[in-house]
Amino acid sequence: MSEAVTGHSIFSIEITDPSDVVSARSKAREIAAGLGLGSADQTRLATAISEITRNVIQYAGPGGGVCRLFDESDNEWIRIRIEVEDWGIGITDVVAALRDGYSTGGGLGAGLPGARRLMDQFDIQSHPGCTKVEMSMIRRRHHG
Ligand SMILES: Nc1ncnc2c1ncn2[C@@H]1O[C@H](COP(=O)(O)OP(=O)(O)OP(=O)(O)O)[C@@H](O)[C@H]1O
Ligand SMILES: [Mg+2]
Repeated sequence: MSEAVTGHSIFSIEITDPSDVVSARSKAREIAAGLGLGSADQTRLATAISEITRNVIQYAGPGGGVCRLFDESDNEWIRIRIEVEDWGIGITDVVAALRDGYSTGGGLGAGLPGARRLMDQFDIQSHPGCTKVEMSMIRRRHHG
C-alpha cells in the first residue's frame, strides 16, 4: 500500500463546490493545530489550500477534483503534505502561471505564486486532463 511509504492519509475531500473549499480549508487548519503547528502556520497552510482548491472550482470544470492531506511527521519534524488533483483542461503554461499577476480568468494571478511562497515545498504537474499540485509544510518540533 503506497500510503505506508508516503505517509498516512488523514483526509480526502472532493472539490466540486465552493463550499468544499471552505471544508478543506477548515479541516486542514484543525489537523495542523492537532499536529502542533502554531496559529500563523495554520493560517498559512489554510490559505494555500484555499487558493489551490479555489482554482479547481474556477478552472477544472464540472468534474472538479480532490484535496488530500497526509501526515508525514516523525519525532523531529512536523511535515504535512497536501495533494490537490483535478481532471480539467490543465494549465497551459505552468511557468507563466507561477508568475505574480498571470491570470487567464481575470483574477489577480496571486493564487499559485502566493501558495508557493507560503509552503516549504511546491510542485505542479499538469497536462490536459490532469493537474496535480503537491505542497508541504515542514517545521522542526520543539522538544522539552
Ligand atoms: N487547476 C487549474 N486548472 C487549469 N488552469 C489553472 C488551474 N489552476 C491555475 N490555473 C491557471 O493558472 C493561472 C494562475 O492561477 P492563480 O491562482 O495564480 O491566479 P488566478 O486564479 O487567475 O487569480 P487569483 O487566484 O489571484 O484570484 C490561472 O489564471 C489559470 O490560467
Ligand atoms: Mg487562483
